[in-house]
Amino acid sequence: MGAARATVYHASDGNDWYNGIELVCEEGMEEDMAGVIKSSFGKLKSGVAVDLYTLTNKNGLVAKIMTFGATLTELHAPDKDGKMANICLGFDSVEKYEKGHPYMGSTVGRYCNRIGKGRFTLGGKTYKLATNNPPNHLHGGGPKAWDKVNWKAQIVARPDGPAVQFTYFSKDGEEGYPGNVNASVIYTLTEANTVKMEYAATTDKPCPINLTNHAYFNLKGKGTILDHELYIAAKSYTEGDEDLLPTGKILPVVDTPYDFFAQPAIVGDRLLAAGGKEPNIGYDLNYVLLPGAKGYATVARLSEATTGRLLEIRTDQPGLQFYTGNFLDGTLTGKGGWKYVQYSGICLETQHFPDSPNHKNFPNTILMPGQTYRTRTEYALLVK
Ligand code: GLA
Repeated sequence: MGAARATVYHASDGNDWYNGIELVCEEGMEEDMAGVIKSSFGKLKSGVAVDLYTLTNKNGLVAKIMTFGATLTELHAPDKDGKMANICLGFDSVEKYEKGHPYMGSTVGRYCNRIGKGRFTLGGKTYKLATNNPPNHLHGGGPKAWDKVNWKAQIVARPDGPAVQFTYFSKDGEEGYPGNVNASVIYTLTEANTVKMEYAATTDKPCPINLTNHAYFNLKGKGTILDHELYIAAKSYTEGDEDLLPTGKILPVVDTPYDFFAQPAIVGDRLLAAGGKEPNIGYDLNYVLLPGAKGYATVARLSEATTGRLLEIRTDQPGLQFYTGNFLDGTLTGKGGWKYVQYSGICLETQHFPDSPNHKNFPNTILMPGQTYRTRTEYALLVK
């Protein structure tokens, strides 16, 4: 891949390259930056142009991210023989993304996962959100949820690999949420073969914030994920009701089909016992990660025997939604004519617990003016 002209961005205080939303451009600092190519990915119905950024690292791994929804559209990783395949579900045109899809590779916000009955109360005021997953709010709501808006993008200089920063300004009241919010996510394809996502957000009014990436993985790049092996660093999970909304109870995984901690297990083995409403049977639950919100750790390992591909998820987040694509029903066709049927992909969404604004016993998700929300998640692309 060739190099693209780009502007190098420095932090306003001159020393912090990691400050997402605080990066400013210094005049005269232009230089070539290898590893990132910007191209057009078409136009939205409104005529707005959508750009695609292709990141390539020195080992030949490729990550593609578009401005619409700051979405990871492709991720090419080697198998045990060095053979590359795209291991993320996605589509080949922006039209297909705009038509509607279940958050494939999307950056999800302002609040990923569910908020009960689309309501929360802050400072004595009750806020009403879209109940787009009746009777609850899901993944930031309706047409202005962050997976459905076009983010601004700029190539940024990072020490560990080619990187692009996506930014979005969300107005006070958008999708019912309080506060003007400046959000950013930097995707870096590191030379250590990880896709690193660093999120930041500030607000001018108290507001719940909970951001994630909703990639669907399939380590064979075809078929289903029922034969994938999974480890999750969690001894407990937040119990969900019949609409997958937390009841507030935190339960142990031991002796349940949700236990991927005692030893790694094949995803398909206990899937029929995992719950869900017919025909959407499968895993769709939030794990309470070890060591909680305190550190940055490997929290899940997904592998597939025939290709030897191993995906490690590292994060500082307290929760992980494990979802087996139970709602995929074959109506969407992705890249290369691949029909997305039930269990075509696995999501491992790093997050705060669902519905935290309505549960005092869950870690806090309210961002206050003057604070900066920051979180980091990495997908490490390894072989076994
Ligand atoms: C999340 C939810 C699922 C489903 C998918 C999108 O993972 O937990 O129930 O809504 O998003 O289809």
